[in-house]
Amino acid sequence: MGFNIAIDGPAGAGKSTIAKKIAAKKGYIYVDTGAMYRAMALYLLREKATPDEIDEKCKGADITIGYDNGEQVVYLNGENVNPYIRTEEVGRMASVSSPNPRVRKKLVELQQKLAADADVVMDGRDIGTCVLPDAQVKVYLTADSHERALRRYKELTGKGEACDLSTIEKDIIERDHQDMTREISPLKQAQDAVLIDSSHMSIDEVADAIIALCAECGKK
Ligand code: DC
Repeated sequence: MGFNIAIDGPAGAGKSTIAKKIAAKKGYIYVDTGAMYRAMALYLLREKATPDEIDEKCKGADITIGYDNGEQVVYLNGENVNPYIRTEEVGRMASVSSPNPRVRKKLVELQQKLAADADVVMDGRDIGTCVLPDAQVKVYLTADSHERALRRYKELTGKGEACDLSTIEKDIIERDHQDMTREISPLKQAQDAVLIDSSHMSIDEVADAIIALCAECGKK
């Protein structure tokens, strides 16, 4: 088994930014599991699948991962779909389709294979609880909803997109509720995960705190 770092937490807590930073600093492979659920959602949207058809239609999606200059590339039936998975529409479909047991089984197997032989930092919602229960380092990364909304607001306005802070915060609270109360693999802190609240921490402070946890486990 490689050295595995599992980072779970709600949307907007900074998981992917932090995970990428750690991967770059330590030379680990970054695995973005949300991107896999998004690729599956893109496939289902293209297939025009209704919620009732997700279970059957998801069988037609072959999702694999590659790396280009250290960046994770997600392939859907051989096509690089990175340019298409970051839209609101795909995000909404991902939150509808990710609770499906067949979708999860398929993607969890892929995630476990990736972590089996390599040093990885993997982020998602169920990594410490389901995907990598034996990960050497588990972190539950959170931040208060107002702070997360503010980060998203700055990101969107930075891209020139019109948006409203209170609507963003309301969406975040709703998404948290959905992720935490769903029946299968709900978002929750693993018993042996370390809680980090990034509300008042910089990206580097969080990354260094996690790297320090790795050092405690004897990982250079
Ligand atoms: O982190 P994200 O927004 O890219 O995730 C997209 C969707 O996939 C979101 O609805 C949560 C879901 N997801 C999941 O159920 N399990 C994971 N390990 C990662 C993401």
